[in-house]
Amino acid sequence: MKGIILAGGSGSRLAPLTQSVSKQLLPVYDKPMIYYPLSVLMLGGIRDILIITTPAEQDRFRALLGDGSQYGVQLTYISQDAPRGLAHAFILGREFIGKESVTLILGDNLFYGDGLSDHLRSGIDSARSGATVFTYHVKDPERYGVVTLDADKRPVEIVEKPTEPKSNLAVTGLYVYDNDVLAIAGGIKPSARGELEITDVNSAYLQRGDLRVEHFGRGIAWLDTGTSDSLLEAGEFVRSLQKRQGLQIACLEEIAFTKGWIDLRQLERSSESYANSEYGAYLKTIARSARELEGPMT
Ligand code: G1P
Repeated sequence: MKGIILAGGSGSRLAPLTQSVSKQLLPVYDKPMIYYPLSVLMLGGIRDILIITTPAEQDRFRALLGDGSQYGVQLTYISQDAPRGLAHAFILGREFIGKESVTLILGDNLFYGDGLSDHLRSGIDSARSGATVFTYHVKDPERYGVVTLDADKRPVEIVEKPTEPKSNLAVTGLYVYDNDVLAIAGGIKPSARGELEITDVNSAYLQRGDLRVEHFGRGIAWLDTGTSDSLLEAGEFVRSLQKRQGLQIACLEEIAFTKGWIDLRQLERSSESYANSEYGAYLKTIARSARELEGPMT
């Protein structure tokens, strides 16, 4: 299973914040936004990840995340000359995906909550054939792709930004596809807004009876960071939980260490690289507890 983070786009709704820096590099409380979607792919067990950026910003993403070895993953970068829609990710990523299945996550989506890893695993496991979208109940479905389900909770329709939504179930920015997505994305035409719509890809899977819906319930938070208000609210959400629990959200090295992708020495080295930040202190605490469990240093 390959992973793609789509972090291109102009972030126009956040201007002037995004005039000189990509939206996905802006802070969500104490971390750059892209840490959050990257943590989701990692929690799903995905280690081979393509990051799609604007040409101008690619170096900054590289400076931030490097080749991924610090987090036990392998990162590849590719740039997108203009925002051409979410489904364009599969055209750009064709070679990277090869013959595998793929999970796409939008670089500005934040998912957090109990059971998230189980949901991811179930979506990813079912990707041997077909597609899985993840839905979330929202107050303002007209802003999103919207799914209608039948009485057996099977999807019957999926519509992009409907003026009169038939349900409150928004399609979130996380998608799992089998390898057919390459052919499907290659065959769709740009929409009225000039983009290759992910909803058209999902509708193609739906029509052939191959679209599954995994629902994120009340225990999961799906936060948007597309406007100044929602960006601030996402930061407040992260801050509240972290302060209350003393546990970090989207701590990449912690996830990598827990999964056995990096060893204790790498964790210690990383913790030093964050100097005296709270994030670094948190990593040091994890490393110290692990060191204690291991017994005295030899
Ligand atoms: C895109 C998709 C939409 C999906 C949303 C999730 O919308 O087109 O189907 O619900 O992401 O964030 P856009 O960000 O292009 O408005």
